[in-house]
Order: sequence, then C-alpha cells, then structure tokens
Amino acid sequence: MSLFPFSEAEALAVAASLGTPCFAYRLDIAASRFAELRAALPGRVRLAYAVKANPHPGLLAAFAARGSWFDAASGGELERLAAAGVEGGRVLLGGPGKAPEEIALALELGARIQVDGIEDLERIDEALAAGGPAAQAGGPPLPVNLRVHPAPDPGAAFGETSRIIGGSGPSAFGVDEEGLGPFLAQARRFGRIRIAGLQVFAASNEREAERLLSSHRAALAIGRRLQEELGRPLDLVDLGGGLGIAYAEGEAELDVGRLGRGLAGLLAENPWFEGQLVLEPGRWLSGPCGAYLARVLRVKESRGTRFAILEGGINHLLRPLLTGQCFPAAAPGARGPSSPLTLAGPLCSSLDRLGEVELPALRAGDLVMLGQAGAYGFTEAMGDFLSHPRPAERCYERSPL
Ligand SMILES: Cc1ncc(COP(=O)(O)O)c(C=O)c1O
Repeated sequence: MSLFPFSEAEALAVAASLGTPCFAYRLDIAASRFAELRAALPGRVRLAYAVKANPHPGLLAAFAARGSWFDAASGGELERLAAAGVEGGRVLLGGPGKAPEEIALALELGARIQVDGIEDLERIDEALAAGGPAAQAGGPPLPVNLRVHPAPDPGAAFGETSRIIGGSGPSAFGVDEEGLGPFLAQARRFGRIRIAGLQVFAASNEREAERLLSSHRAALAIGRRLQEELGRPLDLVDLGGGLGIAYAEGEAELDVGRLGRGLAGLLAENPWFEGQLVLEPGRWLSGPCGAYLARVLRVKESRGTRFAILEGGINHLLRPLLTGQCFPAAAPGARGPSSPLTLAGPLCSSLDRLGEVELPALRAGDLVMLGQAGAYGFTEAMGDFLSHPRPAERCYERSPL
C-alpha cells in the first residue's frame, strides 16, 4: 500500500488550489479502509471509529454512511457526531475525566457511557435522579460499560503503548483490574445504572495481529470474570483501538485478515460471551487517507546537517515529537538524487523538528508532502503556539485530478 494518498501531480494540484500549509484527505481511501476492515472481521464485531484520530465532518459523514459506530472522548466530539446526524445508539463516550455536562449530553443523545471510575457512576446517577432524559425516567437501569485497566503483563509492552496509552503501569484510565471486586461492591448502590459491558484497551499503533489478539484474549478473560461477578451477561466487550499503520517504507502492514480470524477464534473460545465485540480504530481507518502539504521557507546547512524549514512544524503535527518517528516524506516536483535532510518547522523552539528524511535537493518554495497524516494531525498538535495561521483542511471525494 502506498504511504501517500496523492500522486506528485495530485499533491501539486491540491497545494495550488488549497494553498499551503494544508491537510487534504481522500474519502474514497477512508471508505475503502472501512470496507476492507469490515470484511475482515466477524459479524459480531462492531467498528467504532475513534473520532479523536480525525474529527473532520467529511470523515465522520463517510464512516457514518457505512454504518460505523463511533468512539467519542469529549462533549465536543459528541456534538460533532450529533451535527453529522449520527444517532446516539451508535456512540460510545469514554475518557478518564468526564465533566457533568458531558455526561448529561451523552445521556440526552443516548450514547453508551464507558465508566472510568466511581465518580462517573455518581454523576450519571445524579443526572438520572434529576430527571434524566425522558426515555430513562422510571425506565430500566441505564446500561453502561466499565473500563478496566488490565494488570501488568510483562509480555505485553508493545507498539507505542507505553508512551501513548500509558502501558500497564499506573494509569488515569479505568478501574485497575486488581481493584475490580471492591469497585463492583461500591457500584451496587447505583440502582439506576447497570454495568452491561466492558472496555479494555492497552495498545497503540500495533502492527502485529498476534500482539493485539493476546491483549484481546486478556480482555475477554477480564470480561468473563466481570460477567461472573455481576451474575448477568455482558452485551458488549470493547477492545479499543490501536491497530497500527506503517509510517516508513519497509514497515510491515497489520494483517487484518489474521486479526479477523483471530477474533473469530476468540469468540469461539469464549462461548460464555454472547454479546458483541467492539473495535475502536482511529489511525488505521483515517491515517492513510490524509497528507500534509507544506512549502519550504528556507534551506540551510549547519555543522554538516542540511535543514529544510517548512511552513509548519509541531504546531501542525505533534507525532514526530511524541514518537521520534517522521511521517513518510516526499517532495513532489523535486528531481535529483536523495540525500539526508532534517525537516524543521518555523517555531522558535529546537523541539520543532518533523524528522530526518531522504529527499532530493530542495529550494525555498518547493513542496513537501507528508503521508499517513489523516490521523493524529492538526487536532493533536499545538496549533496556536506562536500564532501562525491554521492550516487549510479539505476532504476530496476521490483523486483531485
Ligand atoms: C479509548 C480509545 N479508543 C480508541 C482509540 C484509537 O486508537 P487508534 O487510533 O490507535 O486506533 C484511542 C486512542 O487513544 C482511545 O484512547
């Protein structure tokens, strides 16, 4: 699979029409990723696009039209989904700190709340006691999911997990697995709420299907224990996201066929569970549909290192700073042999580096394209630092040419 959603000619055309710096997305690529993953998974697995990866309305509409569920992590994401016409029954709200207003909005929309601790239960209960949404008043207990932070597994430190999701050490997310019993004892006092599902998520950008599956196997073991302790069947087990993509030539792709077959195997191994599994991929679905385009402001050589200083840096893309890995880079229109180059941004900070790449000799005004930028792009970055203009952003239905 190409690491870039646009050919050189397409990138030059997009840059000319949108202006730079900009983010451009191809909805046909996002749609075909959704279809490919959907086809690889058993029917009992729901796909819930993680809005945080890229909340552009065009992408939300494209996934919604294909039947996607959604993982929202804030009131703002809930509002974006409501604006895209997504009904609450297809939305899950997670997050380690939920404000009462966010809980109230989730209840009003009918989204399933992923409870991260006792305070979520207290706030939901208060909202329900105060009248809650009409559908809940005097009705059956409100089903919620419980997020459980799995106990440390020495074999499970994988992908970018430790940096991004926190690994298996102390965590702001969910209820520690070892504290599950006492938590459930406390939770019993909330008669208006029913723990009906589980969320366990402990991976980020993982390209090995087997590693994802081993954490899913552990999640189902927690689910079995939860179901036994609750004494009633779980309807959902949410396995989170973390499906990885390649950010460099030669990096192996995640084998989604293997993931799907593995999930079918796990369902067969766990006949006690008759509900639905949920996967919440963000990066895998939207990353490959997007590119970031920026022009070179100047080039310089400093003590043997060649720099290209671009119109945008970590104010538009934070991932290289978080992970030390550059996005795949190309220089549409530039010719000649490639040599090492450091891509820097325009900020007055030596942290403002987008990485080391190999590109032909560049001059001021030349275009640089970074691929796999449809996920964790501008909305993850420190966009207003130094008050540079925000990048343009646009979805294309298909090739812009
Ligand atoms: C709860 C939850 N679900 C899903 C995701 C999406 O992860 P990814 O984009 O790696 O698939 C995240 C990312 O942090 C998350 O926190």
